[in-house]
Amino acid sequence: FSAHFYFQVMKDNGFQTNDDERMLYGEFPQGFLWSTATASYQIEGGWRADGKGLSIWDKFAHTPLRIFENDNGDIACDSYNKIDEDIAILKQLRVNHYRFSISWTRILPDGTKNYINEAGFSYYDRLVNALLAANIQPHVTLYHWDLPLALQNVGGWENDTIVERFRDYADIIFSRLGDRVKLWVTINEPYNVAMVGHGYGVAAPGISFRPGTLPYIVGHNLIKAHAEAWHLYNDKYRAKQNGKVSITINSDWSEPRNPYKQEDIDAARRVIQFYIGWFAHPIFNGDYSEMMKTIIRERSLAAGLTQSRLPEFTPEEIKRIKGTYDYFGFNHYTTVLAFPVEYGNLQHYDGDRGAGTTADRAWLNSGSGWLKITPFGLRRILNFIKEEYGNPMIIITENGISERGPVDLKDSHRSYYYEKYINQMLKANLLDGVDVRGYTTWSLMDNLEWATGFAERFGHFYVNRSDPKLPRVAKESVSFFSTIINCNGFPD
Ligand code: NOJ
Repeated sequence: FSAHFYFQVMKDNGFQTNDDERMLYGEFPQGFLWSTATASYQIEGGWRADGKGLSIWDKFAHTPLRIFENDNGDIACDSYNKIDEDIAILKQLRVNHYRFSISWTRILPDGTKNYINEAGFSYYDRLVNALLAANIQPHVTLYHWDLPLALQNVGGWENDTIVERFRDYADIIFSRLGDRVKLWVTINEPYNVAMVGHGYGVAAPGISFRPGTLPYIVGHNLIKAHAEAWHLYNDKYRAKQNGKVSITINSDWSEPRNPYKQEDIDAARRVIQFYIGWFAHPIFNGDYSEMMKTIIRERSLAAGLTQSRLPEFTPEEIKRIKGTYDYFGFNHYTTVLAFPVEYGNLQHYDGDRGAGTTADRAWLNSGSGWLKITPFGLRRILNFIKEEYGNPMIIITENGISERGPVDLKDSHRSYYYEKYINQMLKANLLDGVDVRGYTTWSLMDNLEWATGFAERFGHFYVNRSDPKLPRVAKESVSFFSTIINCNGFPD
């Protein structure tokens, strides 16, 4: 692999790449948020340190064959013991924000408020203080996939008591860190929690036997849990702490495979409504989209069920969930080409959307099969968010590219990716009037890429895993990205 290798070969042979648009020169608004992200299980290690309870990822990673090469997060990047090192590389990157997540079981080992583990809390307390001392604002995610195992044992996200458990956990964190943390994400990528964890089953908790039903139940509870945490902040903390709370929704952009074929255009729309729309529609517009409700209901009844597999919100719930955001947190990496397929049977994980996806052969690769370099898609999906969800303030909470194979610190594919995507974001902002206020890269350093282990590396910094000290080493894109930050864009 190497995207820049392909890119160079194509250019050497006189081919056009997909880089067919000219750069826009200009700067982002004053006070633009520049950030990079990580997540607790992917970097912290210390899986049993100082009284931490077990999470579903501890269990999943210790189950043979679940993770590529049986990697696990027991040590990961050892960030639990490396606050100073992590601050140093954040400073080197010149970001003004840092997005990280809190491990629920470090604070509440059995997932409930019955017992607060002070030693685990102290790690985040020190991290937040160290960030502020370095003039870097914390952007904290409450849930980035490491659910307490004790809660999974009573049904996890399938059991609606999770809504109250999550609210209790959020309450403790807001009350203790909210004096210093002003930006919050409740839940990271609900789509992946629902679909990958409970549909495909290739992420914890690894359930795949009710793929046409369970993801919707899980999604329903994720939305309610988010909304309750937002209301809690709004009622109890906002006046004093004056921060912003939202959810981070992820989505690919989806285009028709054949832009002249109505069936492909319709398929592309369905992909989008079943992806970003699943979560954004209830939170920004109110209730699930008509498209999702109609399709799932019709297919459920046709299969002989008495009601839709998609749970319904009551009118009170619709009202309570709508508007539970202070910004639109958005993770984005790539674009897909959609075409219609026969509706799958109920056992098929994405049978309801009735669409398959593929990629254009001209698109450049990354180290992840699902991730093609498609900068134009970012501008288009930002415009979609603007139109569909009432022009909300957007913070991009993740965007990035991986490599795999032999280590090469010359990551020109990463600089290329960031230059093109950030430039498309600039066009969305300056030319299209999209209210984008911040941009976060994934990731600060190479880390455990979930089921693909340490093999796919998204970091600005390489982590040398054969050295027990796990040193962080800058790749070349560090200076590239820090220059963009320093210039606040692409000044003329
Ligand atoms: C989304 C997730 O939030 C993050 O944990 C993951 O590593 C990146 N995307 C890359 O796949």
